[in-house]
Amino acid sequence: MIVKKIAVLTSGGDAPAMNSCIRSINRCCTKNNMELIGVIGGYKGLYEGHFQPLNLEMTSGIHSLSGTILKSSRFEAFKEDHVVKAALSKVRKEGIEGIIVIGGDGSYKGAMSLERLGMPCIGIPGTIDNDIPGTQYTIGFNTALTTIVESIDALRSTAKSHRRCLILEVMGRDCADLAVYGGIAGDVTAILSSDEDQDFDRLDTLVKTSIKQNGEAIILVREHVLDVFALAKRLEKETQIECRAMILSYLQRGGQPTVSDRILATRFGIKAVEALMDHQSGVCTCIQNDEIVLMPIEQALTVSYHNRGIYEDEYKLR
Ligand code: F6P
Repeated sequence: MIVKKIAVLTSGGDAPAMNSCIRSINRCCTKNNMELIGVIGGYKGLYEGHFQPLNLEMTSGIHSLSGTILKSSRFEAFKEDHVVKAALSKVRKEGIEGIIVIGGDGSYKGAMSLERLGMPCIGIPGTIDNDIPGTQYTIGFNTALTTIVESIDALRSTAKSHRRCLILEVMGRDCADLAVYGGIAGDVTAILSSDEDQDFDRLDTLVKTSIKQNGEAIILVREHVLDVFALAKRLEKETQIECRAMILSYLQRGGQPTVSDRILATRFGIKAVEALMDHQSGVCTCIQNDEIVLMPIEQALTVSYHNRGIYEDEYKLR
């Protein structure tokens, strides 16, 4: 049977280049004579039946914009069976034969609930956190990383002018990739990316040495590891070096999508449409060694982590 009508939704925290992915899905659907429905507002929109048919003119030019034209939400109620069933009946009534979900691990769980009830679903990893272990990169990670590195570069000039230590907290939820990749590209003094990285005596030494050798020190901290403002006070007291802290926060979720995110998002979009045309379900798109592949969602969430080599390299610098 030929698939004629599919839907796409974005869910969870928005990520730069989600729009590039929507555009790519739209182009592939048009090329293959399939109708594309945009679900407005993630799973909440699915439950409430907010469906918007998309044509090429509506998605033209969006590939360079951050955010998501489909809007997003965190909809906890979608964990409940009766909510999923109610959403599904709206989807079926609309004649939708498959759904592409762009989001992170929480969004994947929603896709699995729909697929268990017989609705073909394909996941596309869209989150700045890069925390889906089955794929080397998620949509938005590269752009968020670029924002982090540009911020470190900007902080360095003032750190140098004042011979200060500056502490920057970045996002990532439980994943250290933004902190580790950002720290390497930004050439920081120290990265606190996990609860184990809390050897404060060593940190004091690293900061004192960097001030002496480089005339500045910058520490990058992953969110949830510790309170960066308390850390600044503690360091200042122990080292007598002026310290300041800041949280980069939602700035990391904006920023014009980088070329690499746009290309990744576009390739993921193509693969997801092909997968639905091929009657696949319960799988997600992943990038491995520059190849776009499909992997069962369950497996993509649980395989052992992909980017360990860079973590080892980072340790070699300190
Ligand atoms: O998952 C993306 C992310 O930005 C995380 O890095 C962060 O912990 C979280 O979302 C913030 O969530 P919210 O947008 O609900 O405040």
